[in-house]
Amino acid sequence: MERESRIYVAGHQGMVGSAILRCLETAGFEDISTRSHGELDLTDSRAVEEFFASERPEYVFLAASKVGSVPTSTYPATVLRENLAVELNVLEAAYRYGVRRLLFLAGSYIYPRSAPQPVKEEYLLTGKPEADSEAYAIARIAGIKLCQAYNRQYGTNFISAVSAYLYGPGSGFEPESSYLLPALIREFHGAKEGRREHIVVWGTGSSRRELLHVDDLADACVYLMDNYSGEEIVNVGSGRDVSVEELARMIGEVVGYEGDIVFDASRPDAIPSMLLDASKLNNMGWRARIPLREGIERAYEWFLDQGNRSESASSLR
Ligand SMILES: NC(=O)c1ccc[n+]([C@@H]2O[C@H](COP(=O)([O-])OP(=O)(O)OC[C@H]3O[C@@H](n4cnc5c(N)ncnc54)[C@H](OP(=O)(O)O)[C@@H]3O)[C@@H](O)[C@H]2O)c1
Repeated sequence: MERESRIYVAGHQGMVGSAILRCLETAGFEDISTRSHGELDLTDSRAVEEFFASERPEYVFLAASKVGSVPTSTYPATVLRENLAVELNVLEAAYRYGVRRLLFLAGSYIYPRSAPQPVKEEYLLTGKPEADSEAYAIARIAGIKLCQAYNRQYGTNFISAVSAYLYGPGSGFEPESSYLLPALIREFHGAKEGRREHIVVWGTGSSRRELLHVDDLADACVYLMDNYSGEEIVNVGSGRDVSVEELARMIGEVVGYEGDIVFDASRPDAIPSMLLDASKLNNMGWRARIPLREGIERAYEWFLDQGNRSESASSLR
């Protein structure tokens, strides 16, 4: 990409899209198009066509998706229909309007639940994904296959990246939609504010998670856009996982919680996440740069900035 290239970031108000936008702006790209979901519904094929016809983007980051707090097991039809529609419409328009390169994004949930760890790219479609996220996984796998099919049939340059579990700015801290790391930050912050003597974490604490800061993912996306044109998918990960116990203790330190942490083994463990094998991307010359501790400090600052700051929640600076 050149500094003056026309770039479209789809889903720029989401966690991943906003991080890609920050990364591009910081790097000095000057001609970036964005549209909110309200301004451009990507499930509307005519609207998508009109947008590409008028904006003529040369590079597209496809980070729009129906995900967030929508439980895929409760709304599988919505998840499948909307994600497939976005993929069909954006890829077709990108082909018809001569986009030079498009980056498609998926997550580690696309891999078989029982895949050997760390998970290599070639394990895709060697088994069934997690049942709870099946609809989402199938939609994303279809998107990857669609990218490859367009490349073969029309000579397009659509590439796909598979990200590890993300954290950082943009992740939901609401109780009903919180994933593990934001949920722990919220709990530890509440325990500190309430001066609670101990905090209970469900499970044995032995379940493991790979965590990638969303700013690292964004950096990798821009790197791939500049340096990769292969058909095969590429894993983006930090290369290491931590136990829930290590994570909880680190978050406790960052938040400044001084009470005890009790692991309640009678409660279920968090579902372990996949550890991705990122050696392919590492061998191309890219590595995650944000250490977990620093990333958690940034995530906590962001949490405080969302209106959760109080007298006792001192700044980390
Ligand atoms: N978050 C993770 O841990 C994670 C991990 C691995 C991979 N990924 C991948 O990253 C991508 C983005 O995920 P994310 O976490 O950034 O999701 P997100 O925070 O929910 O953002 C998705 C964005 O897409 C927009 N959108 C949804 N449907 C749309 C439509 N029909 N038309 C236009 N915009 C639409 C949403 O707008 P509204 O909110 O207004 O609907 C939102 O701004 C996905 O492909 C996901 O698989 C995420």
